[in-house]
Amino acid sequence: MPFTSVLALHRRGFLQSGAACALAGLSGPAFAAVGNVTPQSEGFAARLRPGSARVRMVGDEAPATAVWTYNGVEPGPALRLRQGAPFRAGVENGLTEATTVHWHGIRLPNAMDGVPGLTQPTILPGRGFEYAFTPPDAGTFWYHSHENSLVQMGRGLVGALIVEEREPPAVDRDLLWVIQDWRLARNAQIAPGFNNRMEAAMDGRVGNTVTINGRLPETLQVRAGERVRLRLLNAAIARIMALRFEGHRPVIVAVDGQPCDPHEPADGRILLGPAMRADVMLDMQGEPGHAYRVVDDFYGRLAYTLVSLSYNASAPLRPHPVDAPLRLPRNPVPRPDLASAVLHEVRLQGGMMGGMSGGGMGGGMMGMGSGAAWAINGQSMTGDGNPDMPPLFRIDRGRSCVLDFRNETAWWHPMHLHGHSFNVLSRDSVPVPHDEWGDTVLVRPRERVRVAFVADNPGDWMLHCHVMNHQVGGLMTTIRVT
Ligand code: C2O
Ligand code: CU
Ligand code: CU
Repeated sequence: MPFTSVLALHRRGFLQSGAACALAGLSGPAFAAVGNVTPQSEGFAARLRPGSARVRMVGDEAPATAVWTYNGVEPGPALRLRQGAPFRAGVENGLTEATTVHWHGIRLPNAMDGVPGLTQPTILPGRGFEYAFTPPDAGTFWYHSHENSLVQMGRGLVGALIVEEREPPAVDRDLLWVIQDWRLARNAQIAPGFNNRMEAAMDGRVGNTVTINGRLPETLQVRAGERVRLRLLNAAIARIMALRFEGHRPVIVAVDGQPCDPHEPADGRILLGPAMRADVMLDMQGEPGHAYRVVDDFYGRLAYTLVSLSYNASAPLRPHPVDAPLRLPRNPVPRPDLASAVLHEVRLQGGMMGGMSGGGMGGGMMGMGSGAAWAINGQSMTGDGNPDMPPLFRIDRGRSCVLDFRNETAWWHPMHLHGHSFNVLSRDSVPVPHDEWGDTVLVRPRERVRVAFVADNPGDWMLHCHVMNHQVGGLMTTIRVT
């Protein structure tokens, strides 16, 4: 298989280049194939035990990596829930520090949202908490720690949460890629220093090792003619991804779990900020016996091959591409009424080259506490939140709301709202096509993005950047729905 060695070379090149130097020499023949992920828990109840574990992440010849994870597997078990069916999760804290679990993207009651100090007390070591909710929407969601989250998520406390459609679309395989980014030292251990001040004011802690489902991947075995539903989750703390499937035409059918008009991504790249998901339909139209690369080229010259699609030699599964419909059934998310909506400006400020007086890094910004590098409308909520800080605004339950994000910084921000899904209306006043919804919207430097939602879920809800260094550095606030 000459292709394998080309891949290995490429991978070695990646690992030795620039930021990605740590694991040179470790690339052996032992990388895991990315296969079908069978759900490790299914249905109505789960037990999650956050704790420390050691996992083989970069191949069998490298030392195991010490991580923090749920139930000893990295990422945590993929939970499969049923739409509209009650779900319970008993969490037992096996860490030596407090934690909580946040169910990212799920429209659930505020008390189940997992935000320490705001919606629940932290779960102390050795103690437990019972989460219970009924997911209203089908789709690809996830769960993660919301306490000391830069470090806890960065050490591995993340997992996928899939809510099954009542009538799932016809596909040959349903695959999940939980994509994580790690900064590993030469001994395959996670490098310390999560909250480097300089990085925090720039693009955050971008690592040097990208894994799929907890392993440095090499190939995904596929068969010509099959249709795969691929659930992509960017579970990295800071790395933005732009995935290009060479020789293929992926069709995006859902973003952040919410169905959209099926469409091929603009310029062929699937752009995923931290916390974002995309469900894509991939018809395997390649040649039997050939391999095709999946490349992430978001950081331009640091482009690397994430994985390759490797076709077995069998004849195509079917003579013609599948012509089953691609559109997913819509979720019961209310559509905002733009005519009566209240508009709130959300100005994203700070960071290096932010053009603020004092130049960011805590200088001269009104309301910025010490250590804050970022602010929203002049205020910085840092760490894991400050329940005493007043909400950015209050809104009557049931009102439609437009958030007008104005990125005044030189950096990208995946902005996330808890408890609701919003419709992405426009970017720099240009309407966004394909009826796109989400819980996280990636805002480019200096860009202005408008989203709209019905504030139908009562409570105090977090609104923050999902680059974890930005969140803990002040790019965080709350909104109050009453
Ligand atoms: Cu996925 Cu407040 O976060
Ligand atoms: Cu969330
Ligand atoms: Cu940010």
